[in-house]
Amino acid sequence: MTDDPGARFSEFLSRLTEALGPKGVSTDTQEIEPHLNDWRGRWKGSTPVLVKPASTEEVSKAMALCAEYGLAVNPQGGNSGMVNGSIPQGEVLISLKRMNHVREVDVLNDAMTLEAGVILTRAQEVADENGRLFPLSLGAQGVATIGGLIATNAGGAGVLRYGMMRDLVLGIEAVLPDGRVWNGLRGLRKDNTGYDLKQLFIGAEGTLGIVTAATLKLFPKPAVKETAWIIVESPAKAVELLQLAKAASGGAVTGFEIVPRFGLDLVLKHVPDVRDPLPSSADWRILMELSLPRVEGARDMIETLLGEAIVRGIAADAAVCGTEAQKAMVWKIRESVPIAERVHGKALKHDVSVPVSRVAEFMQRGAALARSMAPGVDIIAFGHVGDGNIHFNVTAPPGVDQDAFLNRDGLKVTEAIHDLIVSLNGSISAEHGIGRLKRDELAWRKPQVEMEMMRAVKKALDPDGRMNPGRIL
Ligand code: FAD
Ligand code: MLT
Ligand code: ZN
Repeated sequence: MTDDPGARFSEFLSRLTEALGPKGVSTDTQEIEPHLNDWRGRWKGSTPVLVKPASTEEVSKAMALCAEYGLAVNPQGGNSGMVNGSIPQGEVLISLKRMNHVREVDVLNDAMTLEAGVILTRAQEVADENGRLFPLSLGAQGVATIGGLIATNAGGAGVLRYGMMRDLVLGIEAVLPDGRVWNGLRGLRKDNTGYDLKQLFIGAEGTLGIVTAATLKLFPKPAVKETAWIIVESPAKAVELLQLAKAASGGAVTGFEIVPRFGLDLVLKHVPDVRDPLPSSADWRILMELSLPRVEGARDMIETLLGEAIVRGIAADAAVCGTEAQKAMVWKIRESVPIAERVHGKALKHDVSVPVSRVAEFMQRGAALARSMAPGVDIIAFGHVGDGNIHFNVTAPPGVDQDAFLNRDGLKVTEAIHDLIVSLNGSISAEHGIGRLKRDELAWRKPQVEMEMMRAVKKALDPDGRMNPGRIL
């Protein structure tokens, strides 16, 4: 091996191309370009090479070569991440998109094994084609991949009933930073044979290795989903409604999302083919979904519980979706809030969680805090109220340069919001992860002993620090 860095890299490239074939390696700037920007246009990256393995063996060969040449690696799935983790900063970029095969569906075991590059909507289809449900669902499901969803421990709309990605994974196959393959694709619900290593890779954001495949849990398909769009006066009423709905439906609430009037207005303004399902001047809406095992009685159940909510003053008004098209419309409104927000302008994004019992207090105190620190800001607080995760986004005040706000005064607002979250026993990253965005903050907010344990794990699996450097740790 030569000492000249340019010659060494050329040698690496030619050995990589020999190992993966020309389809597996690209230095074409046009092909690479879309991989270098995040979906909101906030961050820009660079890479000398895009690697596109088609199999675990090819990932292993690429990783072994990166190890030999001492090169850092950045894995990428659908590049829909929110925390600047998937944009390369000069590392070798490994896209898992070509690894998109369904390896196995074991219906009797309620499990399916998919490669890392399978898109979430395809995973949902595979489950459906086999008479089962894969319950993870989120706005980016048309692009986000199984590998990325595992790496970020994604959440989304069904968490209150089915849990996060962490709860949906039975087994994992991963390639370690030195190229070794770990086949942990076990379809077991019980396996007490030592440390649960798969959990290390879930939520590790690619800092410990590359996830190449996973065995995922499947669930019975509900016979019917009843969906309603509900007007409530306040987040406190929303939480009351959640308790009522859970009790009245025997735990069948599978979606409970809050949309503020301002978020709805942005969607109506910027997103085509949507209309307000229930016009009202009230400040808050809830999208509620119940998943039930029998069609008979389902409509009665939701109508009765909503009737009771209105009589008791918990809900102000409600509309039950009568058709699949109406259900699709209310979900479209909900999932379009981040898209409409992006058109509206840049915003401070706070992906935070608190115990459900403290959501209303957080929403009220958080809004007062942001408005006192930056008068005139708009607050778009929406999302997964059913599991305590609010996307508490704050726009720049009118007349203030958006980038300057995000990078200067806005930082103080974020610190204050996060202080409030910590005081309420919450988390400063509920579902999007840490990436590069929250790395520095994590280091001083987490207890020292926790940081030390995380660094020890990182050192054990990635002693040279080549896997996604600068993310999380
Ligand atoms: P990427 O963005 O490509 O990567 C994310 C991170 O994982 C990076 O650090 C990357 O290096 C690493 N990584 C990717 N693939 C692998 C792999 N195979 N092995 C190891 N590491 C890997 N998230 C939620 O949790 N809930 C939501 O409700 C939600 N809604 C969203 C709505 C919109 C409109 C958008 C744009 C995003 C939303 N997200 C949400 C965020 C995003 O979709 C998730 O973080 C998702 O899990 C990212 O998947 P991806 O394949 O795009 O990963
Ligand atoms: C969502 O739930 O829509 C996303 O996680 C939100 C976001 O843009 O923060
Ligand atoms: Zn979300």
